[in-house]
Amino acid sequence: MGAIFSGVLENRDGILHIDGVSTIRLAEEFDVPLYVLSENRIRENFRRLRESLLKYYGKIRIYYSAKANTNIAVLKILADEGAYLDAVSPGEVFLALKSGFQPEKILFTGTSVRDDELKFLINSGVTINIDSLSQLKRLLNFYIPKILSVRVNPEIGAGHHEHVITAGRNSKFGIWETDVVEAYNMALEAGVEKFGIHMHIGSGILEIEPFLLAAEKLLKIAQNVHEKLGLTFEFIDFGGGLGVPYRPEDKPLDLNSFAEKMLNLFKCRIEEYHLGKPYFCLEPGRFIVCDAGILLTRVNTLKVTPFKKFIGVDAGFNTLIRPAMYGSHHPIVVANRLHEQEEDVYDVVGPLCESGDILARDRKLPKVFEGDLLAILNAGAYGFSMSSQYNSRPRCAEVLVNKGKYALIREREKIEDLLRGQLIPEWLK
Ligand code: LLP
Repeated sequence: MGAIFSGVLENRDGILHIDGVSTIRLAEEFDVPLYVLSENRIRENFRRLRESLLKYYGKIRIYYSAKANTNIAVLKILADEGAYLDAVSPGEVFLALKSGFQPEKILFTGTSVRDDELKFLINSGVTINIDSLSQLKRLLNFYIPKILSVRVNPEIGAGHHEHVITAGRNSKFGIWETDVVEAYNMALEAGVEKFGIHMHIGSGILEIEPFLLAAEKLLKIAQNVHEKLGLTFEFIDFGGGLGVPYRPEDKPLDLNSFAEKMLNLFKCRIEEYHLGKPYFCLEPGRFIVCDAGILLTRVNTLKVTPFKKFIGVDAGFNTLIRPAMYGSHHPIVVANRLHEQEEDVYDVVGPLCESGDILARDRKLPKVFEGDLLAILNAGAYGFSMSSQYNSRPRCAEVLVNKGKYALIREREKIEDLLRGQLIPEWLK
């Protein structure tokens, strides 16, 4: 099954098991499409990142980027591991607080933030990471926080697709270098006492180089702020973006080398620039949950045309949008035929009425039959969290597994849920 398989996936007599549980059994018990997440793999990913960083520096924080997967069971696992949390909406703050994150451990990094949202954040007691001078002015009109962070655009972006590059000239995110001193000065004059500085350059990055280049830039900007205003930083946050291999030819990010190079640069510059001893922070989402999750879907229809063989399944881009949105490749296996040779080439397509409803193109798989169960791998990040009810299909369920145990962590929506919140005006009654 290749190296793409994380430690929790196993072939037992030709049947895919996740963390000791048969996928066939899960599909029968909970129906499909179904997201299945491994608690162990989430913990393992968090721990191996933490341990790699701690080898080189003692003051580190890992902010789990909730947008990758906001199921409250996942949040609870990470709160339990001692994670901090990166939130981008009041909804994510709400879910994180409900899952046991202390407000002091939550950093809010929004863009295009409304005044009522700022008030909600102030009342919640989370730390705010400012994305624009406008947002900063509006915030300081209502409230002077004790601690404040500024998101900087370091002008170096990277990522697996144009849509996920979040720094550089075309990016809407962060404060441009020329405005950074003004931002900190405004906050300082208003009475803010403690500061953080932040960047996030993009998502799905498998090379170390872009992180290093952008980190060098961010540290230089921090030095400039320190020299001009005399302030130091509680934390320096280098964002998320740590990639995970999806294609067989993708090389995993070398975690140890990443930690060593980033922290050597960090330690060197904080000393050289007299920045004290700030926390070194990262904000990974994908790295923590991606390979901990799979999506199970059943083959409904086989259609052979003179040009193509289509496998029609019950998950579409309403369930997993990444292939349609970014052309992303997700490994796919036939969960009930793992021992069979790949001998046919198929397009795996969903039930939506759009030609773009494709989960995989020209994929080599064993001979597939109607009723077979497919597992789409690496689906734990940006899978459920980007799903929708498009074509009026209720959203699917999620299950958590742990060493042979399993539990439903999100109920499948019912057809009646499609009516929730909808109203018919008086004049149509
Ligand atoms: N911090 C900030 C401020 C972010 O905007 C993001 C992701 C992260 C951290 C976490 O990035 P990660 O470690 O997961 O790469 N939907 C896309 C990914 C969009 C990421 C947006 N921001 C996908 O499915 O590939």
